[in-house]
Amino acid sequence: MLVSDIMTQPVITVQGNASLREAVSLFRHKQIYSLPVIDEQGVIQGLFTKSHLLDIIEKELSLDLPVDSIMIRRVVTVGPNTPVEQAYNLALRQGVSRLPVVDENNRVIGIVTGNDALQALERKTRRSLSYYQQELTRTRDYQYTFDNLIGRGERIKWLKREAQVAARTNSTILISGESGTGKELLAHAIHCASPRSNAPFIKVNCAAVPEHLLESELFGYEEGSFTGAKKGGKLGKFELADGGTIFLDEIGDMPLAMQAKLLRVLQEREVEKIGRTDVVRVDVRVIAATNKDLEQMVKEKEFREDLYYRLNVIDLHLPALRDRREDIPLLIEHFLKTLGTELGRKIKGITPQAENLLVQYDWPGNIRELRNSLERAIALSLNDVLDVEDFKGLSGDDVPVKPTVPVMPVGTLAEAVEKAERETIKNALSYTNYNKVATARVLGVHRSLLYRKLKQLGLD
Ligand SMILES: Nc1ncnc2c1ncn2[C@@H]1O[C@H](COP(=O)(O)OP(=O)(O)OP(=O)(O)O)[C@@H](O)[C@H]1O
Ligand SMILES: [Mg+2]
Repeated sequence: MLVSDIMTQPVITVQGNASLREAVSLFRHKQIYSLPVIDEQGVIQGLFTKSHLLDIIEKELSLDLPVDSIMIRRVVTVGPNTPVEQAYNLALRQGVSRLPVVDENNRVIGIVTGNDALQALERKTRRSLSYYQQELTRTRDYQYTFDNLIGRGERIKWLKREAQVAARTNSTILISGESGTGKELLAHAIHCASPRSNAPFIKVNCAAVPEHLLESELFGYEEGSFTGAKKGGKLGKFELADGGTIFLDEIGDMPLAMQAKLLRVLQEREVEKIGRTDVVRVDVRVIAATNKDLEQMVKEKEFREDLYYRLNVIDLHLPALRDRREDIPLLIEHFLKTLGTELGRKIKGITPQAENLLVQYDWPGNIRELRNSLERAIALSLNDVLDVEDFKGLSGDDVPVKPTVPVMPVGTLAEAVEKAERETIKNALSYTNYNKVATARVLGVHRSLLYRKLKQLGLD
């Protein structure tokens, strides 16, 4: 943040040869506390302040005297590109409350008060503080350690060992693996096991941020750098992650133009903020993740080769769940315990037949799908031991078929919503054998809301 972002403009000034009468009337008619005194070219000569008014009365000075006969001649000034912190410290050290802002020719272009500077600094601190607080509560909810990465099979054990060693370094890491294999969990565990664990872990989903916003999201911008820019500017994720780790999720979806900018950051360890001429140095460890085949994308010129090599310093591959079926029973045990507590249901276990079904299944959605299937089974099961029928969805017979041709919308939005609600509720009812308590649970709504909807839709 620079002085030019917060200074008051235009500034009211007075010429050195103007009479005291003129200066007094400016004080009377404008809400000002000090007047920079200038010559014909606008160059600063001195400062005329409210305390000079007292001098005039006390010493019974003639109002015809020129301003420059009593003004302060030694004025502390700042440039528009002075950082706000520096301006504030200067005002404090010099014991002045107002600093005229001058250009390279000493012409007055604005004025800034110590108070403005302090308030701007406070806003900035508060913004990053609230971000950190949110992150802190978010990460406190979960303990992301290697112990939470369930798996005893050789492949996962080996991977964990490799990741633990990598955690102690500052090297960039590329995590690959199908969707739902635990890439984010692994990235977080690496951060928590690294010497940076007390600094923030900042996640950016490169696929979720619209292309035109990605640059400001990553690097931030200065106030006033474009129309619509927020007051006080915006801190980029790289700045927020300073001292910690930045997790670039879905890196394969990063547009090529951004890839070039990211490469620069990785090479130089500094970011170019939008609307700022100098660069900001950052100390961050980068972990990137993708479920795409980056090597293939490089061949097809969809991903920059140089960036690929920069990211791929340490590569960790998370195997698909079907390639480590030996871990499935352990994962089931883990989720029955944790999800049971979360959903407030005590599930004693699972029948060998059901477990066998889960071990045999192909899990295209990997661990996330396993977790969701168990969550659904726990929520719906009428017994405290899960059985084959609790996993009906897995056989594939109720996978919704996507229409291949877009259907022309018919009717109003309200009608469409009602139709969708009716379908969803009817499905849930038949799925739960018309158990309304379970239906409400599946739909994630309170029972009373479900009863109201049933009545409204004539389904009761
Ligand atoms: N080894 C594991 N042990 C326990 N839980 C796991 C493990 N791996 C993943 N999970 C759980 O599976 C879910 C998916 O994990 P995560 O979000 O890390 O996957 P991902 O690879 O980032 O998926 P996507 O590519 O879809 O973003 C999460 O709920 C996570 O807690
Ligand atoms: Mg993920």
